[in-house]
Amino acid sequence: MKYLTVSEVSKKWNVNERRIRVLIEEGRVEGVKKEGHKYLIPDNAQKPLDRRVKGQRLFEDSPLKGVDIDFKNYRKQFPTPDGYFGRYGGSFLPKKLQKAIDEVYNGYLTIAKSAKFIAELREIRKNYQGRPTPIYHCQNLSNYFGKVQIYLKREDLNHGGAHKLNNAMGQALLAKYLGKKKLIAETGAGSHGSAVAMAAAYFGLECDIYMGEVDMVKQAPNVARIKVLGANVIPVSFGTKTLKEAVDAAFEAWSKEYNTAFYVIGSAVGPHPYPLIVRDFQEIIGREAKQQFLDMTGELPDIVTACVGGGSNAIGMFEAFLEEPVNIVGIESMGKGKEIGNNSATMTLGKEMVLHGFNSLVLQKEDGTPGDAYSIASGLDYPGVGPEHAFLKEVGRVKYDYVNDDEAAEAFFLLSRLEGIIPAIESSHALAYAIRCARNMKTGSILVNLSGRGDKDMDYMIERYPHMFR
Ligand SMILES: Cc1ncc(COP(=O)(O)O)c(C=O)c1O
Repeated sequence: MKYLTVSEVSKKWNVNERRIRVLIEEGRVEGVKKEGHKYLIPDNAQKPLDRRVKGQRLFEDSPLKGVDIDFKNYRKQFPTPDGYFGRYGGSFLPKKLQKAIDEVYNGYLTIAKSAKFIAELREIRKNYQGRPTPIYHCQNLSNYFGKVQIYLKREDLNHGGAHKLNNAMGQALLAKYLGKKKLIAETGAGSHGSAVAMAAAYFGLECDIYMGEVDMVKQAPNVARIKVLGANVIPVSFGTKTLKEAVDAAFEAWSKEYNTAFYVIGSAVGPHPYPLIVRDFQEIIGREAKQQFLDMTGELPDIVTACVGGGSNAIGMFEAFLEEPVNIVGIESMGKGKEIGNNSATMTLGKEMVLHGFNSLVLQKEDGTPGDAYSIASGLDYPGVGPEHAFLKEVGRVKYDYVNDDEAAEAFFLLSRLEGIIPAIESSHALAYAIRCARNMKTGSILVNLSGRGDKDMDYMIERYPHMFR
């Protein structure tokens, strides 16, 4: 019998070498011998079946069951022209702001679809942002738990250190084409605030960033960064002094200066057309990741996951996978517990209502007013969620689960120590879910959207988890 090396088989099967080693370790290649550290593979060994062909499902309640939406044409059907994903979405605004929104929508439909705009954004993404971001196979983390293979889409390597810049540059470019002089934005973790401040510097625009005072303390490095970039940070000191109130304040400011300013919403939330615009600017994540994963492994992942605050990195990651036989799971923060005020698990605990100009699921108090949101991650503590997520849950295509503060913190430290990558505490929620799967499943692959890097979180994590540093 003739034997081939991993490198020879890699060329023969057109699958990368690392993936071949994984297939061997999962016992999916017949007749392999080991000599020292080297694998020798029989010349006549069959390339394992692509999981897409086998149609493997890891969950009993397969997400495609009972769904009669054609996901190949889904993007053309949703949202509807008036901004609905089923019951969710729409635009509920005072007349004055509706005029401002109409200008944004018309600009988006005409300018942002022009060849000139698309070419300019493509060039920005390549040469300013450094796209495409890679995917990375976490071999140490995967080996630590056993057979499940964990992969990361490295949005932390996007310029600025988070996925937020994909959307901020797109909306800021639109603002420039519309002749606006100023960008207004809200921020929780400061990632979106930093991204908008970068975009303002790039396009030579003024910039006001609204941020809750509680978040300003937790995310001090990002506050400094926004100021260094030349933008104003405007503290928001009412209510819980976090993201919800920052959105209230940003809307209020926009209603006074919409003739000269553009409101760059930072997540897949807000009145129509913002959820659509943000999804379109973020879907580059999933489009790149799907092709990169196929190139790296020859298969699609079994599970794709991302954290859900308002839902922009998740929708950007999920969109390209909706039409594929892949389990998709969004992860929210269960914070300190299930009582309203202790978490931001909107998909699990929220009820339908209109907040910030759109209809979706919202955490509510007993009297039906919006509940306070909490999370260790400032970027997740929003009491609402993007309408498309509420819809995808309702039709059963995406499953939503949650992770608490301590699980996210464990993931934060594990990835840092095993792979040398410090994740944002927001992204650590999705990673914690992957770790939970790695503990419970015997085999499979999980692609996690690592939405950002964790430099901004280090001081706070050291203070809150000092025992992790002994
Ligand atoms: C790194 C990072 N990931 C995720 C999020 C959550 O936002 P979204 O759900 O819109 O992706 C944030 C929000 O600030 C963030 O900074």
